[in-house]
Amino acid sequence: MNDSFKMIAKTFFGLEEVLKAELCDLGAQKVECGKRMVSFYGDKGFMYKANLCLRTALKILIPIYSFDASSYDELYDKLYKYDWTKHMGISNTFLFNSVVSGNIFRHSLYVSQKAKDAVVDQFVSNNNNRPNVDLKHPDFRFHIHIRNNKCTLLIDSSGESLHKRGYRLEADIAPINEVLAAGIIYLTGWDKSTDFLDPMCGSGTFLIEACMISSQIPANLNKGEFGFENWKNWDENLFNLIRESKLKKVIKPQINFVGYDISASALQKATKNINEAGLQNIIKIKNQDFFESKNTSDDLFIIINPPYGKRLTGQINDLYKSIGDTLKNNYLDSNAWIISSNFEGIKNIGLKSQTKIKLLNGKLESRLINFPIYKGSKKVR
Ligand SMILES: C[S@@+](CC[C@H](N)C(=O)[O-])C[C@H]1O[C@@H](n2cnc3c(N)ncnc32)[C@H](O)[C@@H]1O
Repeated sequence: MNDSFKMIAKTFFGLEEVLKAELCDLGAQKVECGKRMVSFYGDKGFMYKANLCLRTALKILIPIYSFDASSYDELYDKLYKYDWTKHMGISNTFLFNSVVSGNIFRHSLYVSQKAKDAVVDQFVSNNNNRPNVDLKHPDFRFHIHIRNNKCTLLIDSSGESLHKRGYRLEADIAPINEVLAAGIIYLTGWDKSTDFLDPMCGSGTFLIEACMISSQIPANLNKGEFGFENWKNWDENLFNLIRESKLKKVIKPQINFVGYDISASALQKATKNINEAGLQNIIKIKNQDFFESKNTSDDLFIIINPPYGKRLTGQINDLYKSIGDTLKNNYLDSNAWIISSNFEGIKNIGLKSQTKIKLLNGKLESRLINFPIYKGSKKVR
């Protein structure tokens, strides 16, 4: 296709392959995995579709200018010569983010500063006026990626990160990132037709993401504004057509989505978030101690994101041991997955694990571990 262009979808460590699969399913071309990113090709309509639908992408960036620079002055000069009026005018706001590696450029903030100066100076010299920087809600977000002397300028089509789906009004103490939650659900291979239980659901992220996956609700249906809505070539009709066609595919899941939490305040937050996502008729949550609960389903998938509580060593080890005991005694014939960064705690679960996947939850190195619970499930000493 002639109007197809390259795009870069950014993601978290460990989610590259699931993002690649999502992109292939959506119909992306020339999809290639990199480090915390996947590159692909598509046209403007595909860019809209990808932003609307991808669950495991944080941002979709479009490379718009590649050049070599061996000093901060050269970087400034090259960016000063770039025609910024292709994108924005003096009444717009903008922001730069930079990622640098190699020996020449070592200070990403200084790179962003130089880029900002180049933009402002160009506008001032041509118009005697300038667009302003906005750190929170800029109209345009630009990224600069530099590796040694190879520089790429990218424009951000997403605006605010795609994990901000629009449903999370309230977060509990340690909410999991929405993109990471969706990625974890994909990594587990949950088949979308098995009852889904999150017995320590906190603010309800896993339940909402799983229910949206199963209902085929586009991930970013309720997102405030996408970056591309400020672009000169913004085609609202095309975007609405794509949105409508995706909405026609939404279905009502025929399975149960159940969440428990011992904390009433966590449940209040989950309730607000579930309502905001419009899933209150599907997801059922309850103020319940997991350790006093029992499996009521024939076929159950369980995801647990327990407290990590590194400082409460004794208590936390007991909590992880109780998770193992509860699964083994009360949840026979279910398939449990646990995500945690508390490796000592994980050992105390005391069940034989099948798969272990390394992930990063924020800065915390974590493990996503599968514990299939069947009659012969072994306790590990
Ligand atoms: C790390 S948070 C879960 C965060 C959640 N994934 C989210 O996105 O908001 C752990 C949750 O486990 C809950 N919890 C701890 N012990 C519990 C128990 N015995 N039964 C049920 N919930 C429990 C806590 O109240 C807390 O909300």
